[in-house]
Amino acid sequence: MSGSDGYFDERVADRYDESAADMFDPEAIEPVVDFLAELAGEGCALELGIGTGRIALPLAQRGVPVHGIDLSRAMTSRLREKPGGEEIGVSIGDFATTTVDGVFSVAYLVFNTIGNLTSQAAQVDCFRNVAAHLEPGGCFVIEVGIPELRRVPPGEKTCVFDMSETHWGVDEYDFANQGLVSHHFELVDGRFELVSMPFRYVWPAELDLMAQLAGMTLRERWADWEREPFTSESRKHVSVWEKP
Ligand SMILES: C[S@@+](CC[C@H](N)C(=O)[O-])C[C@H]1O[C@@H](n2cnc3c(N)ncnc32)[C@H](O)[C@@H]1O
Repeated sequence: MSGSDGYFDERVADRYDESAADMFDPEAIEPVVDFLAELAGEGCALELGIGTGRIALPLAQRGVPVHGIDLSRAMTSRLREKPGGEEIGVSIGDFATTTVDGVFSVAYLVFNTIGNLTSQAAQVDCFRNVAAHLEPGGCFVIEVGIPELRRVPPGEKTCVFDMSETHWGVDEYDFANQGLVSHHFELVDGRFELVSMPFRYVWPAELDLMAQLAGMTLRERWADWEREPFTSESRKHVSVWEKP
């Protein structure tokens, strides 16, 4: 890992909102905010990996008090610069272990960020940490892609997931360790720059077991934020576990 900002250092933070522009589209954000606001009810929300505030800011604008945890000062300083950013509490630290004051009706971890924890032990710690912050009946929401192993050709370990004039994305799998490195080749000022980031891919059933270890049970699983049914063809899932 690079410095104390982890993989989301100044270079990544500088371009984050632009390179994830699709995810900042109101059409992408509104269903997420609707979903989370409904679960938050009158309570507070905790975002793990709050980043530049893509979800936290519009959720707070809906009237839900949001607190965030993130390793990266580079990312969270971009959140601070945005309107309303100063009002959102942020704790700098690893969301698998960092504790914050207060109890929350919903905690959420979106945009594949559970995979940034690259060991099973860290992912289990994350579930336990969340459970300790939730009020009884509180919910933990994860949005994460289904591992795309069916797209890797037999005998190969890489798979191109994006190819445009300005970005090439290649996932490189380490099947034995349930790991992958996402390589992003991005056109910046006329030349391609490489950013490579490690992930641990994880199946829905394994997440359910992690929830069980943390004393939570699966309440809902959908293919997306609009609650389309989750099937064998779904490319991602939005799952909700509940603390009894
Ligand atoms: C893909 S970005 C998502 C940001 C934001 N949630 C969004 O949806 O745009 C992942 C964020 O998680 C943070 N992050 C990754 N691993 C982390 C960890 N172990 N502890 C705290 N933050 C972490 C990164 O610094 C980054 O801001």
